[in-house]
Amino acid sequence: MTITDKDLRECSVHLTEDEQAVEILDQTRLPGAEEYLILRSPQEFFDAIKTLAVRGAPAIGICAGYAMYVLALGTEKEGAAFAGHMRELGEYLISSRPTAVNLSWAVRRMQGVIDANTASSAREMRQLLLQEARAIHCEDIEMCRRISEYGLSLVKEGDGILTHCNAGPLATSKYGTALGPMFLAKEQGISLKVFSDETRPLLQGARLTSYELQRAGIDVTLICDNMASIVMKNGWVQACFVGCDRIAANGDFANKIGTSGVAILAKHYGIPFYTLGPTSTIDMNCPTGEDIKIEQRDPDEIRSMWYKEPMALPEVKCYNPAFDVTDHTLVTAIVTDQGIVYPPFRENLAKIMKKDPV
Ligand code: MRU
Repeated sequence: MTITDKDLRECSVHLTEDEQAVEILDQTRLPGAEEYLILRSPQEFFDAIKTLAVRGAPAIGICAGYAMYVLALGTEKEGAAFAGHMRELGEYLISSRPTAVNLSWAVRRMQGVIDANTASSAREMRQLLLQEARAIHCEDIEMCRRISEYGLSLVKEGDGILTHCNAGPLATSKYGTALGPMFLAKEQGISLKVFSDETRPLLQGARLTSYELQRAGIDVTLICDNMASIVMKNGWVQACFVGCDRIAANGDFANKIGTSGVAILAKHYGIPFYTLGPTSTIDMNCPTGEDIKIEQRDPDEIRSMWYKEPMALPEVKCYNPAFDVTDHTLVTAIVTDQGIVYPPFRENLAKIMKKDPV
């Protein structure tokens, strides 16, 4: 697959033309406004990830890769001092959000380049980091394309697919993971009917998934999260496709809060339930879902964020986990860039990752 500079620049996360900063499409402003943010400082990268201006596990990883390159431009340090400085900055970036493994995966991959080349000149080091960040970005495009092909093989003309949160191009590079088969189907003239959960509390389904699909001319119907059961009962859903933020070695996986409920409903109605994600989201160092750290977010996201008037008393207690873990027993298959992985997941994930689980 040939990937051009234009392809990279069309993604929601990319380097600026002068290669001195990162430009992101601010996902907090969609669908009302398409505004870009320029990121240069550690704080700007941290805040963009924390506030979800850039979000979705692979997109966060791509942003972190470019961030390590851009942050390297801002220091005169060399050798071991440079490596130590970059390690500190990398740990700071990783602390912005705990659940999506792609963030630490990308930072550590960039740090690996630094540690292996401490004898290089500053100029050579910058070049190496730029190459690595670009490689992370290009690989994501290729992985998403393969996931889309594998995912599309699981459905047929006219099928209804339910999805949760947003795992489209905005959350990745191109195509997306869970939405990738839908974009590919459109390219190939195959009609699918997508049901997009609005995805409380941050409404990624309403604001981002229905926006991306509608703009691409794909048949999408927006539903509230509590309507998933009725559309399944009506016989309108032939498969569930969701993304993932971290897949444990046993096949349990974290994804946006509410995903496990969709999986439980799908099992009840006998509907296949798939999670789609790149191998960069599989964490073989994480034995089970119990070991995944779940991010807790500001209660105001539930109480007042999206409304003219607060929807609850300011003092009311809220519980706002950003993700939940879906048990592997509810998962029909995990669709990766290396193929469709069926149970038993522990053995079969180890095979594609060529690594024994811990
Ligand atoms: O909190 P978010 O919006 O970053 O959560 C994102 C998700 O849960 C996505 O489904 C996941 O990152 C996969 S994106 C391809």
